[in-house]
Amino acid sequence: MPIDPTLIAQAAQHLLRGGLVAFPTETVYGLGADAGNGQAVAAIYATKRRPAINPLICHVPDLPAARALADFSPLAERLAAAFWPGPLTLVLPLRPGAGIHPLVTAGLTTIALRCPAHPDAQALLRAVGRPIAAPSANPSGQLSSTRFSHVQRAFSDQPNIVILPDSQSPLGLESTIVDGCGDTPRLLREGAIAREELQELLGGTLLGASAQPPSSATGKATLKAPGMMRRHYAPRKPLRLNAHDVRPDEALLAFGANPIAGAAHSLNLSDTGNLLEAAANFYAMLHQLDNTAAASIAVMPLPNHGLGRALNDRLARAIAED
Ligand code: TXA
Ligand code: MG
Repeated sequence: MPIDPTLIAQAAQHLLRGGLVAFPTETVYGLGADAGNGQAVAAIYATKRRPAINPLICHVPDLPAARALADFSPLAERLAAAFWPGPLTLVLPLRPGAGIHPLVTAGLTTIALRCPAHPDAQALLRAVGRPIAAPSANPSGQLSSTRFSHVQRAFSDQPNIVILPDSQSPLGLESTIVDGCGDTPRLLREGAIAREELQELLGGTLLGASAQPPSSATGKATLKAPGMMRRHYAPRKPLRLNAHDVRPDEALLAFGANPIAGAAHSLNLSDTGNLLEAAANFYAMLHQLDNTAAASIAVMPLPNHGLGRALNDRLARAIAED
């Protein structure tokens, strides 16, 4: 069902007055502010309790709007042509004078750009007529939000945030981030576009980011690699990964046709072993299990290909230490 245009118009007005708007995208909810308004962008960091050294993604409605903000190499043009609108974020050289507040890029000379496909995100971007800086709509380090209710719960003490309703089921996993500044593209964050899809387009010339959280020695030094804060995407309850059994006080996040039996609370990411379905269910099921009486959550092994790589990356970060 298309969103009521009045809601979009009100949300756009709120953004133009410096307010924050949580809006659905085809990946996860974003917490948006006018990217040219320093106070509004500062409010994002404060609301999420996000370290100000971790830059935000800037959302635009189309390629021409993106070209106004960053220098597109032929490689970046190819990636955008293939995957936009859609869940690909491109890190590119920021154009001087683009009107992006330096807090958005955390003072970097590059900017992360994303052109979302979700019709409501598109409608909002067109109504505002300005780039919207938006990280995922969750307190820093915690589970991303894929539903209206997740955002509402996460920011229940922030009545000034306008939250748009959810209207279509999201892919459920954040965008894939590619650094397109150099001659060879680098995968900075695994995400909703699988590495294999990128490699098919690029013919194998893709530098990698580790699927494991970086060690504490490199974690801070390599902030160029995004989503690479060591501990991230974490539920409140402890997780136990690659579980082949379930303990008495554990809830179970299962995968595939043979879920482990016996858990008091058990949810299956995909009983047919479909990774697309698993990605779509991932955050919502973790939110649900996090709200049960279980002491912790056991997670069955997930295959490490396609979207499974991105899911395993999120799980590894969820159990990493700060
Ligand atoms: O699917 C998504 O990407 C969602 C929706 C709302 O668009 N957004 C999202 O934002 O996941 P966030 O803030 O949770 O993750 C953005 C990542 C961060 O890890 C940040 O470090 C990285 O993008 N990033 C932003 N600007 C960057 C830059 N100039 N260079 C490298 N990394 C950057
Ligand atoms: Mg996030």
